[in-house]
Amino acid sequence: MCGIMGYTGGRQAARLLLEGLGRLEYRGYDSAGIAVLSTDGFRVMKTVGKVDALRDALEGGLPSGTLGIGHTRWATHGKPSLANAHPHLDCHGRVAVDQNGIVENYLSLKADLLRRGHTFVSQTDTEVLPHLIEEALGGDLPLEEAMRQVLKQAQGALALLVADARSPDTLIAVRSGNAGGIVVGHGEGETFVASDLPALLPFTRKVSFLGNAEIAVLRSGRALFTDLQGKAIAKESVAAALDLLSAAKGGYKHFMLKEIMEQPDTLTDAFRGRVDLEDGGLDLPELAPVLRHLARIQRVVLTACGTSHHATLIGRQYIESIAGLPATAEIASELRYRDTHLGPETLVVSISQSGETADTLAAMEEAARQGAAQITISNVPGSAATRLAEATLFIQAGLEVGVAATKTFTGSLLCLYLLAIHLGLERRALPAKRAAELLQDLALVPSLVGRLLEQAPVYEDLAGRLARYQNFLFLGRGLGYPVALEGALKLKEISYIHAEGSAAGEMKHGPIALVDNQVPVVAVAPRGLLREKMAGNIEEVRARDGIVIGLLTQGDDELAARVHHSLLLPEASPLLLPVLAVVPLQLLAYYIGLRRGCDVDQPRNLAKSVTVE
Ligand code: AGP
Repeated sequence: MCGIMGYTGGRQAARLLLEGLGRLEYRGYDSAGIAVLSTDGFRVMKTVGKVDALRDALEGGLPSGTLGIGHTRWATHGKPSLANAHPHLDCHGRVAVDQNGIVENYLSLKADLLRRGHTFVSQTDTEVLPHLIEEALGGDLPLEEAMRQVLKQAQGALALLVADARSPDTLIAVRSGNAGGIVVGHGEGETFVASDLPALLPFTRKVSFLGNAEIAVLRSGRALFTDLQGKAIAKESVAAALDLLSAAKGGYKHFMLKEIMEQPDTLTDAFRGRVDLEDGGLDLPELAPVLRHLARIQRVVLTACGTSHHATLIGRQYIESIAGLPATAEIASELRYRDTHLGPETLVVSISQSGETADTLAAMEEAARQGAAQITISNVPGSAATRLAEATLFIQAGLEVGVAATKTFTGSLLCLYLLAIHLGLERRALPAKRAAELLQDLALVPSLVGRLLEQAPVYEDLAGRLARYQNFLFLGRGLGYPVALEGALKLKEISYIHAEGSAAGEMKHGPIALVDNQVPVVAVAPRGLLREKMAGNIEEVRARDGIVIGLLTQGDDELAARVHHSLLLPEASPLLLPVLAVVPLQLLAYYIGLRRGCDVDQPRNLAKSVTVE
């Protein structure tokens, strides 16, 4: 996700843009920039890193002008760099564009534009847009009409701000596809536009929300709304009731809930621009520096901590079954002290959403010392892990504020899934047809997760019944076992309840001694995750008066009759069931933590990034 902000009115734009961008930083912060229309054209300032760096760079003097756009970036195409920072301009510096989203067909558009003599300065997909607008404006079209012409060529999810030096009183906002929201703020003789409410609240509470496939034309202090064909749309403005912090939470009570609810979008972002569902193509150019060693790779070692370790337990099975390589998953704080043999024949895949976890970094340093090839999966551009690894696969989930990892966990699972397919294809161990099927299964996940999130009231009601218990067991088999571990970790770190995850097959070797009528047992038992074996475990628990909460497939009435409470999952590919199964457990932990009066966004004793050993 990125943050975009625009202003046109009677005041100087630069300061307003910086203030707004600072409130959008939670959406991404690997570079920032503004373009302000002065008397002699656009004055552009960009910096790598947070908005503060941009503010510092402008200390010498803010560009003057009453129309401008600004951007804080979350890298998708093109590394975090000055050249790739937005806003982007056309060849003559006449058109300035900010984008949130992806121009899916940018490679072909860029090739055509280069052939027609345009010059490019970045590796981004966005930069094709100002050049296309430059060409459309050549026909003396009004800016909004030129924009409509361009939208017929550019495909993908686009949330855009566009300004033209020859239209000094006009700012265009475009929303096409699910590239994140755009909100228009109505001031006195001035208008604002931004990705999200927090950027507008210091200036106005009177707002309008741009819908999908709509354009806003901000001109002379007024906003006109049309569809993509130019037909006028009557749009009510509403009073934004939120305070700044709740606006940053998108109106949710807590960041953790917001981030759980964002998962359909963040899961889409995890494969957006990487997967072409039409032809079953998978494009991960960022892995090229490592894949040149692929011929010598004989095994994969995955390593991480905490929730990310649970992701490695799932990723290990993806690598084994999809890529056809031996794989192990090692807790980083253990791996770093073992006599491991992470030589050149080993590919080490680390996962760290923060990219700053000390134990994971130490394991990566040890792997580097032994000459292993390294890929890291992270959510934070520019973080230490991304500098240590030879290649980074970004989770692209947007900033995760809640200490409990939720959207970054499911996003890392999708990254592991894509990595396994990519390795399988590159090793010729995975038939293209099978790869296409796996990608089709993947495409269903965001909407399936969206359906589960609609069940939130069911999970909240169950939480009310379970919040009083002091000890929980979570059981699973195969890919359900890491889900059990993750469900237990979510509950314990959010509600301070003692919760233990266990391989269900291990029950009879000890954990079953814990079971009595004061112990709720969550059994991860959907079809596809060794359901029949799990049914046996459910009977074992029932025979000892345990309280069974079954995570079951919708329609599995036979097993539903044998548990006290059912959390139902849709049918899905067994490989992707962990992405679905964890969602009810995230919400169960959240609602139980709430019931127990815990600080769910900042649980005691924990930190979002564990930079100590
Ligand atoms: C997860 O909810 C916890 N906050 C914690 O276990 C976390 O997963 C762990 O510290 C690893 O963090 P990382 O992914 O940033 O490396």
